[in-house]
Amino acid sequence: MARPTYRIACLPGDGIGPEVTRGAVTVLEAAAAAYGFALEFSAHPVGGAAYDAAGTPFPDETREACDAADAILFGAVGGPQYDGLPWEHRPEAALLAIRKRYDLYANLRPILLYPPLRDASPLKNEIIGGGVDFIIVRELVGGIYFGEPRGITTLEDGTRRGVNTEVYTDAEIARIARMGFTIARGRRRKVTSVDKANVMEAGRLWRTVVDEVAREFPDVEVEHLLADNAAMQILRRPGDFDVMLASNLFGDFLSDEAAMLTGSIGLLPSASLGAAQNRLGLPKGFYEPIHGSAPDIAGRDLANPLAAILCGAMLLRHSLGQEEAALAVERAVVRVLEEGFRTGDIKVPGTAVLGTAAMAAEVARRI
Ligand code: NAI
Ligand code: MG
Repeated sequence: MARPTYRIACLPGDGIGPEVTRGAVTVLEAAAAAYGFALEFSAHPVGGAAYDAAGTPFPDETREACDAADAILFGAVGGPQYDGLPWEHRPEAALLAIRKRYDLYANLRPILLYPPLRDASPLKNEIIGGGVDFIIVRELVGGIYFGEPRGITTLEDGTRRGVNTEVYTDAEIARIARMGFTIARGRRRKVTSVDKANVMEAGRLWRTVVDEVAREFPDVEVEHLLADNAAMQILRRPGDFDVMLASNLFGDFLSDEAAMLTGSIGLLPSASLGAAQNRLGLPKGFYEPIHGSAPDIAGRDLANPLAAILCGAMLLRHSLGQEEAALAVERAVVRVLEEGFRTGDIKVPGTAVLGTAAMAAEVARRI
């Protein structure tokens, strides 16, 4: 039987994006060799790098490559030199264009505390000692960031009024809830749904629809938390969560809060999945580290590539269905950390501090 070949569009972007993406490609190639499939990578400009080269952050060529790909591996975009540009030319415009184009409604952010890095967490050992391993499933294309009406208007009496509107339909809630419950089935079978059902109508509908979807998943436990309480419980009992399901707005805050539990921003991957499917009938996913382009360390082989590498693991799992290879990448990351390898951002003593490329090579060697 011919080895399956998957097409990955690489969008390295700006700053440390190209360095960390190169690290992820190194590791993905090792995983493909070990697990009997082939990866066809192609690199395309995006963000500021694309603006410099082509006058637009999301060139046609890049869009066509994304359309043809089974999955998209993204680095980071942005930098101070682009801050003054009009919105449509700004690097972040590419991100929104991609989210919209593939209807990437589910943003997945695993919050995993690696035991060797426990001392990097700001929380006490008695709170995190039992382990922290949950995943935030955030709705990404609806809610208050997109709802109408929106805008700033001046009323007749001169009062200026800013408006945003939280809007969710039952279908939008149901599809993100199904994603959350499905993921919980592959984990510890618990969903914690976050809303403000006490004061917001969209939140009341959110809770109702999550309960309706929960009936399709009788084997998964469901818990509802009000968003303010959820913010508190993340710090009080982070070990209790498995899948945390949240709207666009609440998921934004809670995922940044939860990220702080784990020690370094250079370790955290994310995946955005949506309605668009690839040739395998799996989600055409978009995978990006949660960190930005880190202009302060760019081009110096200092960046931690583990977030990008873990994006690679999520890509193998969600877009290619290569679960065994995904687990192998995740195990290799755990092993390098256990063996004491660090990058400069990991403020826990180890045995060796490595550069970006060397860290990626250590992970690849352990696949
Ligand atoms: P940032 O995440 O780029 O950097 C924050 C701090 O963390 C910096 O000190 C940086 O050196 C460090 N850091 C980040 N990633 C690291 C890694 N892999 N290894 C080691 N250290 C790492 O956030 P910042 O500084 O607020 O933004 C810089 C630029 O990135 C801005 O132009 C911003 O708009 C953009 N950005 C882009 C994002 C994206 O592409 N999705 C997300 C966040 C910011
Ligand atoms: Mg945020």
